Amino acid sequence: MSSLRDEIDMSKLPKSVAIIMDGNGRWAKKRFLPRKLGHKAGADTLENISRVADDLGIEHLTVYAFSTENWKRTEEEVGAIMDLLRNYLDRYIRTAEKENIKIDIIGEKNRLAPDIQDRIRRIEEISKDKPGMNLHIALNYGGRDDILRGVKKIAEKVKNGEINPDDITEDTISSSLDTHFYPDPEIVIRTSGEERISNFLLWQIAYSEFVFNSKFWPDYSAEDLYGDICYYQTRDRRFGGR
Ligand code: FPP
Repeated sequence: MSSLRDEIDMSKLPKSVAIIMDGNGRWAKKRFLPRKLGHKAGADTLENISRVADDLGIEHLTVYAFSTENWKRTEEEVGAIMDLLRNYLDRYIRTAEKENIKIDIIGEKNRLAPDIQDRIRRIEEISKDKPGMNLHIALNYGGRDDILRGVKKIAEKVKNGEINPDDITEDTISSSLDTHFYPDPEIVIRTSGEERISNFLLWQIAYSEFVFNSKFWPDYSAEDLYGDICYYQTRDRRFGGR
């Protein structure tokens, strides 16, 4: 069977991909299932797609798992997502020897439960020397909050006389963000047909291409990822130049 994988121009493979995994709730609703089963199916899709992206040779995949605004959902739903995260991290820790992917968390971690923070520290330590893709899971993440925290770090340095305001550059800001250690995404994919950014990486997407896929996240497959990358490769990226 032919696959869209064969259509990808490997010389122009994006290094850094970001995904807004949207539509878990609607996927569940369509099947008369509780929302938490939609998130469970979404977590399975994340596991599958991160393997597919790693296999393809993507270096960085950033996924939006829980935003600073998601706390407004019911306690039951927030609890279900946090439990899925616990399971996901525990599964990785159990099978760590066989895993290929490096995992880290971006976002404001202090508001997360202490046991989740412990698991995050463990997984970042266990996976840091893995040879494969970097999976950056955005948790309690907001683009504005990322910039706000970054600005405070810079202000603190100015206050301490470590930097002069005139020496602040775009690089100073980039290197104060949660994503300071990896390249900005060339492509941002959002599933479920919604076409907005919802406070995901704001500074980092200045030159990103957007691909909106109508599939609900639990239905998103390897072929969808290949197709979205092919579509991205048809775009003419000029970065403001000619
Ligand atoms: C958006 O769907 C999805 C989320 C807010 C949560 C994403 C979480 C996962 C994919 C699973 C848990 C994560 C990990 C790291 C294991 P929605 O609920 O907004 O869908 P809707 O718009 O259809 O209601």
